[in-house]
Amino acid sequence: MVAKTMDQLVALCKRRGFIFQNADIYGGLQGVYDYGPLGVELKNNLKNAWWRSMVYERDDIEGLDAAILTNRKVLQYSGHEDTFSDPMTDCKKCKGRFRADHIKDGKCPNCGSTELTEPRPFNLMFKTAIGPVDDGSVFGYLRPETAQAIFTQFRNVVDSTSRKLPFGIAQIGKSFRNEITPRNFIFRVREFEQAELEYFVMPGEDEKWHEYWKEARIKWWEEQGLKRDNMNIYTTPKDDLAHYAKACYDIEYQFPHGMEELEGIANRTDYDLGNHTKAQEEMNLTSHCHPNPDSTQKLCIMDDNNKWVVPFVIEPSMGVDRGVLAVMTEAYEEEDLGEGNTRVVLKLKKHLAPIKVAVIPLKKNNEAIMNKCHEIKQNLLKLGIGRVALENTGNIGKAYRRHDEIGTPLCITVDFETIENQPESVTIRDRDTMEQHRVNVADLPAYLREYFL
Ligand code: GAP
Repeated sequence: MVAKTMDQLVALCKRRGFIFQNADIYGGLQGVYDYGPLGVELKNNLKNAWWRSMVYERDDIEGLDAAILTNRKVLQYSGHEDTFSDPMTDCKKCKGRFRADHIKDGKCPNCGSTELTEPRPFNLMFKTAIGPVDDGSVFGYLRPETAQAIFTQFRNVVDSTSRKLPFGIAQIGKSFRNEITPRNFIFRVREFEQAELEYFVMPGEDEKWHEYWKEARIKWWEEQGLKRDNMNIYTTPKDDLAHYAKACYDIEYQFPHGMEELEGIANRTDYDLGNHTKAQEEMNLTSHCHPNPDSTQKLCIMDDNNKWVVPFVIEPSMGVDRGVLAVMTEAYEEEDLGEGNTRVVLKLKKHLAPIKVAVIPLKKNNEAIMNKCHEIKQNLLKLGIGRVALENTGNIGKAYRRHDEIGTPLCITVDFETIENQPESVTIRDRDTMEQHRVNVADLPAYLREYFL
């Protein structure tokens, strides 16, 4: 059951320290959020799962971490300066500004007025002065997608790794879009993270790889806990395609506010490499490219017949923040425990859980118990399973409730039996079943290694 409201998730995120409104104390900055102590762990775990599946588990993908500040020319020749815009309309009555394609029944979402201006394009890129002159003459952009640096670094990566087609370059990082109407919590924001793969293939093999990546990415999302029934594959109609795409699938997810895009998987053809290439007329391009007198490189690769070819690109592009929202939505449950008791539990996949194990003393002021807790925590850290937290609230019921809500898979309780009896043993409590059983302290490393790794 995914019957959760956005309000429930927002409240949990604030209450337990996952996500906060940015600049809260000054009334906030619209469309900008900060990840708190648990949010940063969850987001890192999701990014690590992506990186692991893309870069570590495969032999055909390299990583990259490029700059956010972007030379204006990159975004001129990529087509973003001319076309990366949304239609904007103004309400003549309340002066509100909205995305024209989000307006229903021709009425202002603020005041209901039907007096709206004709839609006009609004470019979503953040311009920024670069260097000590700030008179508007010298500027660059904050990147609106991480992809462009993968294209502009294509030759450097190929030359330094001796790659042959097909191969990919993966990157995770911040992107910025001056969204007209940021909304739905971290779903549509102005500063966000993307995890993007540009997978380079021989022209003619692009459609096959497009299908391949669609299936691979659905499977990956299932491994992050999303049920297939809560996902939908939307094929973008030709008229709605981004300026660079020949075809695109969206993996949509049933967010609390509706079925919406989680990840796009586009066939970008040879559009980007072609546009950033000098002497295009020599390159046998299929895309319509603008002549590029500024580029100093041909972004191509040698094929098996020793001929230069500009590859086609398949691009799975996920929004990390939307991913965090999706896995939280899926995991959130309110369980009826009977006799008027309920509990909130976040049934996250264990590799995503912000805290893997909580070590809880039955009594916080007992020195022997506390020492044993510290010792157990230090030993568990060595396993490399992720964050192990030492709880020190002294209230075991509260500690269990908190760890249920933040998705900690296991709680280990150190009690008097632990320190008084031999062999030493602790209680392990499972988040989902709430069942508890005793395990010898000496067996904990093997138990947890088996459970987490
Ligand atoms: N490089 C391709 C690209 O950027 P996109 O469909 O515009 O394609 C890819 O963006 C993904 O980035 C989306 O599926 C979404 O998950 C995420 N994304 C885009 N705009 C966003 C925003 N304003 N806030 C949060 N995530 C966003």
